[in-house]
Amino acid sequence: MKIPKRLQPLVEDGLIDEVVSQLMSGKEAQVFVVRCGDELRCAKVFKEAKSRSFKQAVTYQEGRKVRNSRRARAMSKKTRYGQREQESAWLNAEVEALYRLAAAGVRVPTPHGFVDGVLLMERIADADGDVAPRLDDVELTPEQALDYHQRLIGEVVRMLCAGLVHGDLSEFNILVGAEGPVIIDLPQAVDAAGNNNAPWMLVRDVDNLRHYFGRFAPELLATDYAKEIWAAYEAGELHPESVLTGRFTPDASRVDVSDVMRVIDAAREEAAERDARQQEDADDW
Ligand SMILES: Nc1ncnc2c1ncn2[C@@H]1O[C@H](COP(=O)(O)OP(=O)(O)O)[C@@H](O)[C@H]1O
Ligand SMILES: [Mg+2]
Repeated sequence: MKIPKRLQPLVEDGLIDEVVSQLMSGKEAQVFVVRCGDELRCAKVFKEAKSRSFKQAVTYQEGRKVRNSRRARAMSKKTRYGQREQESAWLNAEVEALYRLAAAGVRVPTPHGFVDGVLLMERIADADGDVAPRLDDVELTPEQALDYHQRLIGEVVRMLCAGLVHGDLSEFNILVGAEGPVIIDLPQAVDAAGNNNAPWMLVRDVDNLRHYFGRFAPELLATDYAKEIWAAYEAGELHPESVLTGRFTPDASRVDVSDVMRVIDAAREEAAERDARQQEDADDW
């Protein structure tokens, strides 16, 4: 296909040999299949800042470290410089998250670099070698739903152990690769320890999984992994190998359990309110 303008510099630098096709575009980016040598990869091109919700980006930035104080001041003001800095912090966040999660053994596309605002990464394929479908596009048996749900809960735990909450995990940001689910789309990933939004985002991510897979395996609807995971994380007891039950049994020996439950219940309410508010914001943006 004709080379899109934003990919031109990478073609000139020899990082991309051919642009093969464009995949369905989501809300924040365009994704192309490209050929690099004899390998097919994906190139994710982020939209310009002005076409995205700047207000929303600010929520997600909280807790992200900005070392240079001039940058920090500029980011807190909505100057043009600040907006540009915010933009690059936002773009880099997905790349940083991808490298960190890949290193932590979370199944995400292997990153192959970030050049001129374009993220190059592994192209996730299905068993036939075609581009993997999104979870939303596949029919599941109850057994598959239980299996994928369990694997993805494991991934959420691994992500949290690596210090991150995805923040937009749903059937639209999970691909079904040849070996099972692969998590994508991380620009909004938040710092689990330093961001006040982390608890409700984790709860929303886990609730999304429960609702989606619960359509195929209704017994999942009665589980509560979110509370269990966050309680273990808060107590410093969460490990990638942690055995979870899906039931939350308050531990009477632990004094802060009711606190944890209150935080999580409040987080659920807050998430619902925020979703409603964000919708309103989006309507009048
Ligand atoms: N590494 C990848 N391999 C295969 N398909 C991908 C890959 N990354 C993204 N896609 C496809 O591109 C779509 C949009 O990508 P995504 O990262 O979710 O961006 P956004 O939703 O912000 O536009 C995805 O739904 C998926 O179909
Ligand atoms: Mg997406």
